[in-house]
Amino acid sequence: MTEKTDSENLTQLRIEELRSQLNRHNSLYYQENSPEILDSEYDALMRELQELEQQHPQYASANSPTQRVGAPPAKKFTTVIHKLPMLSLANAFNKDEFLSWNERVSKLLSNKMDFVCELKYDGLAISATYENGNLVKGATRGDGNKGEDVTNNLKTIKRLPLKLSGTYPSILEVRGEVVFPISDFKKFNVARSADGLTEYTNPRNAAAGALRQLDPAETAKRPLDVFIYALGYFDGDVPCETQVDSLEYLSNLGFNINEHNLLVNSVDQVIEYYSRCVDIQTKLNYVCDGVVVKVNRLDFQRHLGAVGREPRWAIAFKFPSEKKETTLLDIRFNVGRTGSINPYAILKPVQIGGANIRQATLHNEDYIKSKDLRVGDTVIIERAGEVIPQVIHAVTHKRDGSETELKMPTHCPMCNHPIFSSDDEAMSYCVNSRCPAQLSKMVEHFVSKGAMDIQGLGPKQINLLMAENLIQDASDLYDLRNHQDRAMEIERIGETSLENLITAIDESRQQPLERVLTALGIKHVGPEVAELLSQRFQNVDKIMGASETEIQNIPGIGPRIASSILSYFSNPSNIKLVNKLRAAGLKLVNELSYHPDQQVFINKVFVVTGRMENFSRTDIQDRIKTLGGKVTSTVSKKTDFLVVGSDPGSKLAQANLLEINILDESQFLDLIQDLLSNNDQ
Ligand code: IVH
Repeated sequence: MTEKTDSENLTQLRIEELRSQLNRHNSLYYQENSPEILDSEYDALMRELQELEQQHPQYASANSPTQRVGAPPAKKFTTVIHKLPMLSLANAFNKDEFLSWNERVSKLLSNKMDFVCELKYDGLAISATYENGNLVKGATRGDGNKGEDVTNNLKTIKRLPLKLSGTYPSILEVRGEVVFPISDFKKFNVARSADGLTEYTNPRNAAAGALRQLDPAETAKRPLDVFIYALGYFDGDVPCETQVDSLEYLSNLGFNINEHNLLVNSVDQVIEYYSRCVDIQTKLNYVCDGVVVKVNRLDFQRHLGAVGREPRWAIAFKFPSEKKETTLLDIRFNVGRTGSINPYAILKPVQIGGANIRQATLHNEDYIKSKDLRVGDTVIIERAGEVIPQVIHAVTHKRDGSETELKMPTHCPMCNHPIFSSDDEAMSYCVNSRCPAQLSKMVEHFVSKGAMDIQGLGPKQINLLMAENLIQDASDLYDLRNHQDRAMEIERIGETSLENLITAIDESRQQPLERVLTALGIKHVGPEVAELLSQRFQNVDKIMGASETEIQNIPGIGPRIASSILSYFSNPSNIKLVNKLRAAGLKLVNELSYHPDQQVFINKVFVVTGRMENFSRTDIQDRIKTLGGKVTSTVSKKTDFLVVGSDPGSKLAQANLLEINILDESQFLDLIQDLLSNNDQ
């Protein structure tokens, strides 16, 4: 037996190290929805392993991550076995790699081929199965052979048809990608942080998080979208001989097919498409990380087959990821509304994707420790289709020993109060309820659009007013009129803007109770919960006096929310705030006339659309609410009535499709009359 050389030993060690790293990242990505590295880093590790295994076949293993896709599904959903495996895609990271793929395929085919170019959506792969045209099963990719049953969650995606149009085989499976639109992602993260929840790093994680909710109602609150890009298993005939045929066929059945798909007949055209998409992708409302080039003819695809987990007939031609090297100058901390201590990086400024990046979030202590980031490190930052720039790793070989490891503050950087951290949460908190940083964030929330909607008061002005002691909490805003002279002296607050601000503050007194409740910033109490509380209790005193059971008895409110409300009102400084708001003349009573014996719309869900003749839409919505009904903005299977005026738009069509009761203005009023008179009898 020959001794192994040192270099062989090193190779074997590296292979083992790569496998264990990839397995770990697979599990973080697929099981826990909390990846620690970017796709591009994952791709690089996978590629290194693939190359080493190719060059050293003696170390091949059936259990290597190169031999399978992802990791097995988590326990909580039932398993779905895919009738056809859900494959992955090989990557080309530059033009040469794409051209060599083309050469390999051309040799194997010895036939001229067309290509279909598609975007590579950066979301979550799904399969949807229809029986006799009805959506019966939805699944995630999982490990490629078996995924998780997310049927009910997929059903919440509006652009996925529940029923197919046209002619279709008795069983038809389609494949596609679920994405979280970027604009919604940004709003969603703002709302999460306002609720004291951690933000998602990117839209893909947010999509994964949404699809893996055990409660479909929770998924429904998240505005997912889906692009269908392929046929899966089918039983019967489909009129498709090419990929382009299938896309058109899928579109005719009612699926959302991407508008940028393109049939081309040469490699040059693929490259042209790719270059165009590098520009286009920055303007899209969903994240793409490359284009997928597919051989158009399905018989060619079958002939080419797959190697391991990757079909030979398609390749992902990745966009260049925008990575830059810079220096981590400092790690600083700010304080969130809930007191969370949030670390962020101060970077030596670098240009990425046209933006000058000076700061990046570092999420929490665990994130910094897992990447071993040190102040003074050379770091790589990336914005690869990401919305928020990320520090991806430190370039450790560039260290000179002067770098300093993270020291989490023991005291709040703003108020010096000792910080509280627990072992079971990555976040640390300042628990001083008078902490100025928290107070200013609270005021920011109080004036925000979904709350009191006071315009002209941004973080800068709030901090200036606080620094001058003109406001200590949100209620002091209502006294600002009496301190106009002092406020005028503050640089950067001009006369007109102060006048406008004071008018906006005055007008906000008219905001209804539910807005005031939202504005208080009670953890887990957003606009929806606030509305439920306002409807059920009618005034803030009753909410403050309610028991946990009474609050929990409201449909839509669970123990977590109830306990947060109770805990909020058990704090004397919060009671003091409410009383100061009362004294300032805010509406702490639901003024919509509420009659307990007139709750004829209890549990009924309404959508109001179009232009009304005699009332405003808000009047109609208020009327529904006073009668105990719920008003939502989108027509779904849960909608009981659509009240429709003139020029109703797509909601009417949707309601017709779902066979929902449609009422015009006078039918709506008649219905109320009928129900109320029945009620009297
Ligand atoms: S075709 C066998 N087309 O990329 C072919 N996949 O690595 C595989 N993806 O998560 C699917 N956009 O969901 C295809 N236009 C597209 C795609 C696409 C994104 C995803 C796919 C999977 C990954 C494959």
